[in-house]
Amino acid sequence: MRLLLVEDNAGLRRAIARALADRFAVLDEASDADVALERLSDPGVQAYDMVVTDLRMPGAEGSGGMAVLRAARARDDHTAVLLMTAYGTVEDAVEAMRLGAHDFIQKPFELEELEARVERALGHARLTSELASLREDRDERLGPDRIIGTSAVLRDAVALAERVAATMATVLVTGETGTGKELIAGLVHSASERSNGPFIKVNCAALPETLLESELFGHERGAFTSADRLRIGRFEQADGGTLFLDEIGDLSLVTQAKLLRVLQDQEFQRLGGSQILRTDVRIVAATNHELPAAIEEGAFREDLFFRLNVIGIELPALRERPEDVEALAGHFLEELAAEVCKPLIGFAPDAMARLRTHPWPGNVRELRNVIERAVLMSDGPRVEASDIGLVQLARTPKGWRPGLPQAGLSLDEIEYAVVLEALERCGFVQKEAAGFLGISRRKLNYMIGRMGITHDSWRVHRGVD
Ligand SMILES: Nc1ncnc2c1ncn2[C@@H]1O[C@H](COP(=O)(O)OP(=O)(O)OP(=O)(O)O)[C@@H](O)[C@H]1O
Ligand SMILES: [Mg+2]
Repeated sequence: MRLLLVEDNAGLRRAIARALADRFAVLDEASDADVALERLSDPGVQAYDMVVTDLRMPGAEGSGGMAVLRAARARDDHTAVLLMTAYGTVEDAVEAMRLGAHDFIQKPFELEELEARVERALGHARLTSELASLREDRDERLGPDRIIGTSAVLRDAVALAERVAATMATVLVTGETGTGKELIAGLVHSASERSNGPFIKVNCAALPETLLESELFGHERGAFTSADRLRIGRFEQADGGTLFLDEIGDLSLVTQAKLLRVLQDQEFQRLGGSQILRTDVRIVAATNHELPAAIEEGAFREDLFFRLNVIGIELPALRERPEDVEALAGHFLEELAAEVCKPLIGFAPDAMARLRTHPWPGNVRELRNVIERAVLMSDGPRVEASDIGLVQLARTPKGWRPGLPQAGLSLDEIEYAVVLEALERCGFVQKEAAGFLGISRRKLNYMIGRMGITHDSWRVHRGVD
């Protein structure tokens, strides 16, 4: 095994090298990003199995560890990369995970902790490459777990989910209803070392507060009138596995406070119990609420948000990735036609055109429902446009033309005026304005930033926990 260790602090570098010396046959050291890049781009130097690099350090034109990460991934994507970050640079670390780092460790750390992370990253890198070759065969067939779609935005989300799976980091999956949040949560579990452990789901919106607490934490016999026996809560059941907290945005403030305590201490009590219980669970949460807005309104605790959102995975709405519609439609058609034994072979062109242009407010779930209905309706070999019952939202009227002035005009100014008016009309609620304009919240947010539009209600206080 070959390791490249990149750290500008010579004392720390030497200590790490000593700690890892037994593990690697070759251990090269670099004192900054430039030295590291030289080694990584030298064809005479064999690729490394692992790179352990500091994030903030001199070299590679100011981007330090990020440049090292990029170079290592470009050289050989089997190389496991572990980043060392200073306290408070978690955002950079998350960016690094997106770029392909396997894990990060916050300074200061114990050397034993680093050794453990190195071991885990190596194990995971090996698993990932084995999985990748297995998956190539399997991808030809259809499996229940399969995440369909080739759009870059979806693939990025899937890749991030697979990468963070290896860590213990809490994951918050956000996205509109029906975008596949639960699917991604399942993936974070099944791609992790905990995949043999339980995957336990709790829908936080489904239960009233008191029930939810006993659902999560369990209760002792006699804890309340109807508690005629002991109940083991979901936190206990999920021990050694993953706990999926769905619809987290619907938790009451009281339950939020309790949850926060469990996340901080990894310990809890059953209702009516005095014994302190410890649990080893990985939390994945999901919501279709805009939590920053809920924080503003005082409906969601900011400290809990930061606890949950260590890694955020945002699933794009289906209308932002129209190229996925066809693959998804084909997938559901195959699945659902087989269920009712209809020999459907595909879609008529105008049926597909209809699917492609629909704005899909209910996203993939809505698409699945539409196909399900179409399968039942159809009586030929193909799904026809008339089998597809789609209610069109009010869109810009077809054939509408703005009537441009002879002298020309500034598209930027028009865009600005339209965005501003949409915002005003929607009381500066970005989500609504984005819906009004038929664009994603992210895109609107980007435009707002570019245009320099601000509003008092958008001040989000970024705290540190
Ligand atoms: N990329 C995909 N490939 C295959 N199936 C998908 C994909 N995305 C979503 N689905 C399917 O669409 C349906 C809705 O997905 P899921 O339940 O994960 O959505 P969600 O984001 O959790 O929605 P909600 O916020 O309403 O709970 C499920 O049947 C799921 O299997
Ligand atoms: Mg869901």
